[in-house]
Amino acid sequence: MGSGASAEALTAASADDLKGAVAALSDADKAKVIAALTAGGGGGARKSVIGGNWKSNPASIATVKELCAAFKEAKFDKSKVDVVICASNVHVAAAKEALGDCGIEIGIQNISKTGMGAFTGEIPCAMAMDMGFTWCLIGHSERRSLYGETTDDTLVKLKNAQDAGMKIMFCIGESLAEREGGTTDAVNQSQLEGALPLVTDWDKFVIAYEPVWAIGTGKVATPEQAQETQANIRKFVADKCGADKAAKVRIQYGGSASPGNVEALSANPDIDGFLVGGASLKPDFVKMIEHLGK
Ligand code: PGA
Repeated sequence: MGSGASAEALTAASADDLKGAVAALSDADKAKVIAALTAGGGGGARKSVIGGNWKSNPASIATVKELCAAFKEAKFDKSKVDVVICASNVHVAAAKEALGDCGIEIGIQNISKTGMGAFTGEIPCAMAMDMGFTWCLIGHSERRSLYGETTDDTLVKLKNAQDAGMKIMFCIGESLAEREGGTTDAVNQSQLEGALPLVTDWDKFVIAYEPVWAIGTGKVATPEQAQETQANIRKFVADKCGADKAAKVRIQYGGSASPGNVEALSANPDIDGFLVGGASLKPDFVKMIEHLGK
């Protein structure tokens, strides 16, 4: 359809006509159309997603209840943002009860590579889902660096989680030495390369870009650094899986994200939300939820 297409012609066009018109474009033109349709701050057409990663915190169940009571009061449009709290496994029942039906979901911080059976200390997807976990983190840098989780491990976990229907925040990111050595994109690509072909449901697969040097350090990536790196991640997804998947996949930023920097970071087109550690252990995490959900 040319630039002279009338409103009548456009509304009369069936979905198949429109799909046919897009299918006839070259890959480069397809990417342009998708970029135009998804342009805009906070990820444009993509629904934002924010996760609070509580790690091995807080020390008491009383604090779990206080935090959840504060988060329950958050005013957010559920069609604009997915909100997930990754509480520790021992706190999840209390967190779930305290959050009630406010629309905040629960995520597990680490999911097992194995299924039901003789696997001491492991929590498989089926068991986690039965307990009400709808999301999981895979490949967090602390799992990789402190507990020896390899990229191959993350792939087994990803496959299990997708097969079980769990939603996933798949964490990748470079160390300070890697950034300074100019290999940021190569590192992200090596952590993603095996994962992308395993994705069967792109609505349930979120990439969490977390530069390791920004995690828990108070040293946040600048909006320009985060945007540039995340645009490169999206381009990699386009190269490997096609422009439609790249336009759809949500990419979070993580690493010292807080109420003070949420606005500047989320104004960028390739930043679709956040994975938040320290700042999710404070009642004013609500401000981050509300910023994305208004
Ligand atoms: P941080 O942690 O927000 O405390 O830097 C982020 C994360 O580990 O996911």
